[in-house]
Amino acid sequence: MTDPGPRTPSSRVRADIAHNARVWNHWLGGSDSYPVDRAVGDRVTGMYPSIGEVARADRAFLGRAVRHLAGDAGIGQFLDIGTGLPTADNTHEVAQHTAPDARVVYVDNDPIVLEHARSLLTSSPEGATEYVEADARDPELILRAAGRTLDLGRPVAVMMLGILNFVLDTAEARGIVTKLMDALPSGSHLVLTHPTTELGGEGNEAAMRFWNENATPPITARSRTEFASFLDGLDVLEPGIVSCSRWRAGSHGLNPEVAQFGAVGRKP
Ligand SMILES: C[S@@+](CC[C@H](N)C(=O)[O-])C[C@H]1O[C@@H](n2cnc3c(N)ncnc32)[C@H](O)[C@@H]1O
Repeated sequence: MTDPGPRTPSSRVRADIAHNARVWNHWLGGSDSYPVDRAVGDRVTGMYPSIGEVARADRAFLGRAVRHLAGDAGIGQFLDIGTGLPTADNTHEVAQHTAPDARVVYVDNDPIVLEHARSLLTSSPEGATEYVEADARDPELILRAAGRTLDLGRPVAVMMLGILNFVLDTAEARGIVTKLMDALPSGSHLVLTHPTTELGGEGNEAAMRFWNENATPPITARSRTEFASFLDGLDVLEPGIVSCSRWRAGSHGLNPEVAQFGAVGRKP
């Protein structure tokens, strides 16, 4: 998206205030952002220089987690809530590369993501992808909509990468996860990343304060204990709760830590 762009943004897209999906795309090196997103994103980078590394590590974690789930774990269904703008190696591309019949439902509440959703709907012929515009705070609606594409009687991997940090109340965030996982059978998985101030990340706290005064939606970091509470009742896969850059990173296992927890839990 170049400004003002060949396309006029729909009336629901706010081009005057920085939005997370577009700033995240800017940090990932994409061009789907407005001047306000780039200005705020660059100010955050000035305060918190490793934020670009966090975004790249989060996407690399997504790739490793989905490859594991679609491969060794035999998961054929993915519910990716807080999808973000299409970028390289979207969930359905990674999953269907390993399991061509994988079925993927994407969910986001940012109208700009909806505008780009057609790039997410390029399924393999054997599989399926669908996009649902919904708020993560409405898990019942998400499950109803996802049930049109996924068989919710069979295991599903619920992906919530970088999104529970926008549900500021921890009990509410936990309630969302619980409702989703309670509705799914044994063998389902929960894949999470979440920002924290417990893994270094110089400038992170000041940058979050700046974000909350200048951009939307507001964000919060969480402690390891709070993050772990989202995985209550699940068997947390090795190596447990780590910086997402270190999760099953193989020969990249000595990647520098980024201030973003990552973990995968399996419903027993
Ligand atoms: C940091 S991006 C992460 C994108 C992707 N999951 C990744 O890890 O690269 C967070 C995404 O969550 C979406 N989001 C934020 N709050 C949301 C909510 N309440 N309901 C649905 N989506 C939300 C944003 O629009 C954005 O696309």
